[in-house]
Amino acid sequence: MPKSSPFYGDLAGKAVLVTGGASGIGASLVGAFCGQGARVGFLDIDAAAAEALIATLAKGGHTPAFLACDLRDAAAVTEAVTAMGERLGGLDILVNNAARDDRQDIDALTPESWDESQAVNLRHFFFAAQAALPFMRAAGGGAIVNFSSIAYLLNMGDIPAYATAKAGIVGLTRSLAGRLGPENIRVNCILPGMIVTERQKQLWLTEQSIARMVERQCLKRALAPQDLVGPCLFLASSASGGMTAQSIIVDGGAT
Ligand SMILES: NC(=O)c1ccc[n+]([C@@H]2O[C@H](COP(=O)([O-])OP(=O)(O)OC[C@H]3O[C@@H](n4cnc5c(N)ncnc54)[C@H](O)[C@@H]3O)[C@@H](O)[C@H]2O)c1
Repeated sequence: MPKSSPFYGDLAGKAVLVTGGASGIGASLVGAFCGQGARVGFLDIDAAAAEALIATLAKGGHTPAFLACDLRDAAAVTEAVTAMGERLGGLDILVNNAARDDRQDIDALTPESWDESQAVNLRHFFFAAQAALPFMRAAGGGAIVNFSSIAYLLNMGDIPAYATAKAGIVGLTRSLAGRLGPENIRVNCILPGMIVTERQKQLWLTEQSIARMVERQCLKRALAPQDLVGPCLFLASSASGGMTAQSIIVDGGAT
């Protein structure tokens, strides 16, 4: 995995909000944006993980802002994004990252569990963007990076609602890009492949399943959260200033 983050000078001083920033890929992104000298805030439902991350980053002199928020609650999303924008003194970059890839039995899904999956995996992407807009407009532009997944390309039968949400994020990215391009707000999307996080290890991944995916990949190593840092910083920075409505796959060449 990359040992250090690339440096994009234009990110210094930028106000960045990461959803689901307390653990996994989001935590790596929070740390990476701090390392760019950005003003960083994050939202998460897991306050204990957030406090642990803040304590770790404090050792390096960084103090990201945190607000506890259940992103399934659309009104709470609007409130928390607005509050974070006010706390950071603006919002230049929004990273919509939070999700929950629960496995779903096609025979057991109900309208309620379907809606719950869209609420945790899709709906807040839109409402966080909507709430960030006034700040981006005031700044004369901004960048939104949405996290989708290659999972919806793999015909995985045990994640129908999650896969639907992740495909929806690509469509949402393109629609927002079309609407917001004239306002100098870029919207792009990242599709990670198998990323070995603590949650993935605890819940789904085994030595065998990791080996199978590595075999499928062109790159013969398992990817880690740090592998998403470079692509996300790139899409957030003016280095990708001519790019919008795009999806970047970061999967070691599995698809
Ligand atoms: N890890 C992978 O292999 C992988 C693969 C493809 C796509 N992705 C995508 O990358 C993104 C990050 O994934 P990850 O593996 O780091 O996930 P993770 O589960 O490790 O972390 C997700 C974070 O979101 C938070 N969260 C979950 N539900 C929430 C809620 N209701 N309100 C607020 N916060 C909530 C969690 O507490 C956690 O901190 C997700 O969008 C995921 O779909 C991950």
